Amino acid sequence: MCGIVGYVGFRPAADLIIRGLRRLEYRGYDSAGLAVLNGDGLVVTKASGKLSSLEKKLGPTLPQGTVGLGHTRWATHGAPTTTNAHPHTDQTGRIAVIHNGIIENAGALRTALEQRNHTFESETDTEVLAHLIGELYQGDLELAVAAALREVDGAYGIAVISADEPDCLVAARKGSPLIVGVGDGEWFVASDASALLEHTRSVVYLDDGEMVVLSRDGYRVRSLDVMEISKKIDRIEWDLATIERGGFEHFMLKEIFDQPTSLSNTLSGHLLEDEGTARLEGLNLTNDELKQIDRIIITACGTSWHAALIGEYMIEELARVPVEVEYASEFRYRNPVVDQRTLVIGISQSGETADTLAALVEAKNRGARTIGVVNVVGSTIAREVDGGTYLHAGPEVGVASTKAFTSQLGALALFALRLARLKNLSILQGRQFVEALKALPGQIEEILGRVDEIESLAERFLDTSNALYLGRGVNFPVALEGALKLKEISYIHAEGYPAAEMKHGPIALIDENMPVVFIAPRDAVHSKIVSNIEEVKARGGKVVAFVNDGDHEIERLADATFTIPETLDLLTPILTTIPLQLVAYYVAVRRGCDVDQPRNLAKSVTVE
Ligand code: AGP
Repeated sequence: MCGIVGYVGFRPAADLIIRGLRRLEYRGYDSAGLAVLNGDGLVVTKASGKLSSLEKKLGPTLPQGTVGLGHTRWATHGAPTTTNAHPHTDQTGRIAVIHNGIIENAGALRTALEQRNHTFESETDTEVLAHLIGELYQGDLELAVAAALREVDGAYGIAVISADEPDCLVAARKGSPLIVGVGDGEWFVASDASALLEHTRSVVYLDDGEMVVLSRDGYRVRSLDVMEISKKIDRIEWDLATIERGGFEHFMLKEIFDQPTSLSNTLSGHLLEDEGTARLEGLNLTNDELKQIDRIIITACGTSWHAALIGEYMIEELARVPVEVEYASEFRYRNPVVDQRTLVIGISQSGETADTLAALVEAKNRGARTIGVVNVVGSTIAREVDGGTYLHAGPEVGVASTKAFTSQLGALALFALRLARLKNLSILQGRQFVEALKALPGQIEEILGRVDEIESLAERFLDTSNALYLGRGVNFPVALEGALKLKEISYIHAEGYPAAEMKHGPIALIDENMPVVFIAPRDAVHSKIVSNIEEVKARGGKVVAFVNDGDHEIERLADATFTIPETLDLLTPILTTIPLQLVAYYVAVRRGCDVDQPRNLAKSVTVE
């Protein structure tokens, strides 16, 4: 979605805002803009394309002023043009607004305003809000913003400044994330902490329906009825180095190589080796409450949904509790059947994905217990659920999720183990599972040590426009994830399928030009997948297989193989995913794609 930054202080605002937007560009990079109050009025500059085009347009001399706001856009209403870029101004041109979210009743509001002689330059819902604030403005920006927002339906994170009040900035949120940065004599607002961490670690998380006014002498939080709200100040624990590339060419590659550490962080402090189980204090569920759970629903989007599918295998196999996996965007509108004995798990790296948040709220309203498996500390989902566990994978900047995925699988394995030991799993089986989990970071290190082999595998995909990924059992979702990675960063069409399903249709696609990727560790369904490989070879297909060491049967059949260290069947996805991430990465780099900021995508989707 979009990135928002605002500042009131004593330093030149433009420079600070541009630096903040640089950190938020993974949220949207269709266009960018800036507005600064320089004592004579409002200076607005915007440009289509990446932040760099705005910086080029601004030139070496940035607009002066110590109050301002800036925006980087992921287009929803109106094409990614300069006219549709934010900030948008009101009819007088004296009020500037930036917005992250969707104003659902913008159409009706626009018509009403046009009937009152307002004229609009852009196609955006945000310009409508700017005009509404302008129309309601009677010398008090806070009151005008509150009044306008009371007429708005939809989701928003907004910041507003006015040439008539040069020392203040008003911001508000509903559905989209917004935090306040509390500095020493200066104050910030931003969509997430990465934009203000270089200035302060002290932040205030705004909740839905809250508004903040930044002024020279501090900040105050109010409701939209302008009632005072006292908020606690939280402290950001991670540091800037974790959101630097650290010498890697791309964030995605850095985050792939982070995985031995990020997975260790996810597991650390949770494994109880002697008892062969896991502790997850944050779940806020007693052992008795966990034992009473007779149905689990896991809901998520995108890569997190793939993790949910693997979680289903782990929990059902280990704990024998029925699990259903739901696309959050479908679950929220499907009148779901849930009750007090249903546990609904929401998985989200960002903790801000609108559909996953709404699905959890829906489940909660229907009496279910909700827990979150989330990476971003303090995010909306983390604060909405009854309990949960943080991944501690560190910030993930690359739009294509990598380390968060393997950490999600680690967290789900911990949950499955804890539940299973409460139900039926023996201490010996538990200890074996703990041992296998502990070995994973080292095994990932071993795979990353053979990155050159994987880079040469990528050659096989360069001249293709289609690819098929096949896996069985717990590695079927890995096939989905491998295909998604290739799609989202190299723009090659790819599909993931259960290997046996191939015969029921996709086999028609197979010819000598289409790579067919098999995820085929030596697990309980190995012999079945060997037959599927033979079926592909019989049609002249080109097979790339990810196998365990010494798998001569598949090495004889496949055109290329890459070996994966052995682990327990249920944990193989944590290893088989790594080379698929790297294949997608090297194919995208070789095709000259923008790996960290793929076209049309955004890191967290905070609108429906
Ligand atoms: C994955 O690479 C994508 N960025 C996307 O599918 C992502 O997984 C999805 O938007 C869910 O995001 P979340 O985990 O932050 O909720």
